[in-house]
Amino acid sequence: MSSGSLNHNQSLGSRRLPMNQTLRKMFQETTLTVNDLIYPMFVMSGEQQKVEITSMPGCYRYSLDLLLAEVDQLSQLGIHAIALFPVIPEEQKDSQGTESYNPTGLIQMTVKAIKQAYPQIIVMTDVALDPFTTHGHDGLVDESGVILNDPTVEVLVKMAISHARVGTDFVAPSDMMDGRVGAIRQALDKESYINVGILAYSAKYASAYYGPFRDALDSAPKFGDKKTYQMDPSNSREALKEVQLDIAEGADIVMIKPALAYLDIISQIKTNTNLPVAAYNVSGEYAMIKAAAANGWIDEKETVLETLTSIKRAGADLILTYFAKEVALILS
Ligand code: PBG
Repeated sequence: MSSGSLNHNQSLGSRRLPMNQTLRKMFQETTLTVNDLIYPMFVMSGEQQKVEITSMPGCYRYSLDLLLAEVDQLSQLGIHAIALFPVIPEEQKDSQGTESYNPTGLIQMTVKAIKQAYPQIIVMTDVALDPFTTHGHDGLVDESGVILNDPTVEVLVKMAISHARVGTDFVAPSDMMDGRVGAIRQALDKESYINVGILAYSAKYASAYYGPFRDALDSAPKFGDKKTYQMDPSNSREALKEVQLDIAEGADIVMIKPALAYLDIISQIKTNTNLPVAAYNVSGEYAMIKAAAANGWIDEKETVLETLTSIKRAGADLILTYFAKEVALILS
């Protein structure tokens, strides 16, 4: 290169920095680590049960005994946090979702057992009624199918408190009712659960990407859809408003869901809040990669790492992902 001349394309090039692996590492802006990951897990009743979810290959519904063994493995792999979802048998469901706050219910017993055996594992419990209601909606519904916001919030508060009693670290309201974060925070504080945090599903879209999850829990809505309480995929200002409300009401972490089709929302929320931002790489996003990889159409490992890195690059501090275990194995 001759000095002082800008006529050489080479001297303006951007290929200098990524020239070798060491340099690429030095200039890498985003690094995915196991500390970023939260593993969603499905628990079912019974013993010695491990049932694969057809539309989510590699993900299982575990009975508590086998779930504990799995948590042990996760812990050894360096995964610190799990998000729990219960598979509730049809006969325990009702229109009011009363099983959701049963002090000896499946989730409550599971949390208790995990925190007893693995106190270092951070347990996050979902707060929403859909696994527990015969109609499959996240809230209570009147005769005409309208979701009843405030009566639902009362049940969600009972549910959250029942989780706090057995030692959950974070409750995660995923229902999208108005005012539920504030009501849950107040109730937790009143009962002196001041250290139980709230991971708020603040910007949760009415998404087709939840299909495999609803298979996993057999929780698809029996009538209508969730568009009166989950957000319209066309909107972004609404997401910022929901986040502001949840923060004002006492959320500790705000979440965007799904992740991949909503990277712009993650990015906007990141620049508009100082709270940690989480993103949910949901079941449909998982299923797409698994299906394409099973066909040999994409490289699974590379695609998973690229996808999760993009979610982090967009602004997510934490990622809920069914790939957590796989990634922990890759990174270890
Ligand atoms: C419902 C809930 C859903 C998911 C998490 N909590 C589905 C829904 O809203 O119907 C989806 C997660 C996923 O697809 O991985 N409270």
